[in-house]
This record gives sequence, structure tokens and C-alpha cells, in this order.
Amino acid sequence: MDLDTLSARLSTLEQAGLDAIRAASSPEALEAVQVAYLGRRGELKTVLGGIGALPAPDRPQVGAIGNAVREALEAALEIRRRELQTAALDARLARETVDVTLPGRPFRSGSLHPLIETNREIARIFGQFGFVVYEGPEVESDARNFQALNIPPDHPARDLWDTLYVDVPGYLLRTHTSPGQIHVMQQTAPPIRALLPGRCFRYEAVDASHGFEFFQVEGLMVDEGTTMADLRGLLDAFAQAMFGRGRPTRFRPGYYPFTEPSVAFDVQCVVCNGVGCPSCKRTGWMTILGAGMVHPVVLRNGGLDPERYQGFAFGLGTDRIAILRYGIDDIRMFLENDLRFLEQFS
Ligand code: PHE
Repeated sequence: MDLDTLSARLSTLEQAGLDAIRAASSPEALEAVQVAYLGRRGELKTVLGGIGALPAPDRPQVGAIGNAVREALEAALEIRRRELQTAALDARLARETVDVTLPGRPFRSGSLHPLIETNREIARIFGQFGFVVYEGPEVESDARNFQALNIPPDHPARDLWDTLYVDVPGYLLRTHTSPGQIHVMQQTAPPIRALLPGRCFRYEAVDASHGFEFFQVEGLMVDEGTTMADLRGLLDAFAQAMFGRGRPTRFRPGYYPFTEPSVAFDVQCVVCNGVGCPSCKRTGWMTILGAGMVHPVVLRNGGLDPERYQGFAFGLGTDRIAILRYGIDDIRMFLENDLRFLEQFS
């Protein structure tokens, strides 16, 4: 081995290396070329291994050539690396272009269920009079659904509510939202102005105007000096807000064990304006709720002193209100989840 042979080999190696670098078409291939030529067991190391066979004076010269070859290869590697990166980026940009002229995807917006809308409207109207929304449980105790409301076991008034019982003794599906009155009285000190919307259940044959599940909104006001006139004024204001100004209303005597006196509250039929039609059974009036002054026994069961406090309560049929509001003739539509029906309210 002499100086000329070794430097010839180095220059062959340099040329081969540069060709390999330029031919590398991916970062992985380039990495492999680097290892093959400049790695710890690479070509350059191998050729320079021959340096030991040279006479000592020639060695520095070969060392210098070797370094120049290494630097040339490293510089070429770096350039090629950049080229590959740029090419990859260009390819990605070309692949990912966004066609801004494409039409957008249609955006389907939902709408609130008519019963929810009606519930909100009811809460909004009574909210203007300071009523606050509470909620009671759907599975209720017999004690609160009946007994605390002045309806002991075997009381004939239980026939007013055909009850669905659950497997747990003493519990049932609430037949009205009135047990909420007890919940609120036991938890809140007067003055009370509470609104209790919710689902109720009765063992009823289902038809166009009856469901075994339906919705009510209970109202309860308790304070010192509350009178029937307050109830009358509030309900009339509600009817005006819900069905339009000037809508005639009336109280009829009614009966509930938990109110005394009790009334039924009618609004003039919104379909025929009092003339008489099938919707109002030719009476000209529609009953939208039951109400009355809270019975002293109920106040006491709620933990309040009836000598000091008076109150009124009302129970309003949400489905009934929604039917009148939207002109729907079958209550069953509300719970059938038929989109063709529901989409009309969006
Ligand atoms: N809870 C009664 C019903 O479901 C309605 C009502 C509520 C009557 C409050 C008077 C007072 O029929």
C-alpha cells in the first residue's frame, strides 16, 4: 500500500458516496448511505484503516485527504436532506389543498319539543310574578301524594286519581304534581312562590285527550294575608299572557281535598270564542286547571301554622295548554316521537 493507491481509493470513495447521496430518494435511504460511508464500520473508516501500512511521513497527508472527503460527504448529505424535506412538504401541501369553492355541509338544527316550549312559556309568565321553579320526584310516597294532602287511605276522593303503584310498598307514580307542595313547604320558609312542573301518571285508558302519562305544572303561594282574590288576579293575568289580551275567564266551584274552597278555572274556548264547538263540548269554555286555597291541614303537614299563613295552589295541565296553543287535536302526538309532527315546531 502506498500513498497514491490510498488517495486514489479515497477519491473513488468520495465520488461513489456523492453519487449514492444524490440517488437517495427518501430520508431512510439517505440515512442508510450515511451509515454505509461515514459510519463506525463504514467505507471511509475501512479505507483509512490502510493508513497504518504507510510510511510515517505520508500519514498526515492521507489523514488530511480523508478529512476533506468526510467534510464533502457531510455537506452533500446536509444538502440532500434539505431537498428531501422540501419535496416531502411540497407533496403534503399538494395533497392537502382545500377546495374553498366546495359547498358547505348542511347544518341540521333541532328544535325544542312543544311541551318543553309550553313549559318554558308557563314558567316565564309566572316568573314575572316572582314564581321560582322547583322539581319533585316522579316516584312519590303515598304519604306525600295522598295523606299529607288530606287524603287518608280509603278516602273516597282517591277515586279521582287512578293510581299506578310500584313494587316498593308505600310508593307510587305520582298522580299529580301536588305532593311538590309538601316538599316545598317543608324546605322553604314563607313567603313561598313556587312552580313545580313535571310528569304525572294515571291508570287511564289512552285516547285523544287522555294519556297514562301527562304533564302538570303546580303553583303554590304561601304568605301572610294571601287571599282568593290574589289567585283570581294571578290566573287571569296568566290567561291573558298565554291566550291573548281580553280572553274571558271564570271560576267554577270545584272539589279537591287539599284546597278549601276549590275551583276549576276556565278560559273561553280559543277555537270558537265562546260560540260552542266540539273542542269545548259546546260549552264555550275550556277548563285549564284546578285550584283553591291551601287547606289548613295541608299547611300544617307542610310544617306551617295555618293561623299565621294562608296560601293558594293550582295544578295546570301542560298538555292541555299546549293543545290550545298549537291547535293540536290529539294528545298522543306529544309522546310518539314522530319527526314529521315535531319538526313543525322548529
Ligand atoms: N292536583 C290536582 C289534580 O291533579 C289539581 C290541583 C292542584 C287542584 C292544586 C287544586 C290545587 O287534579
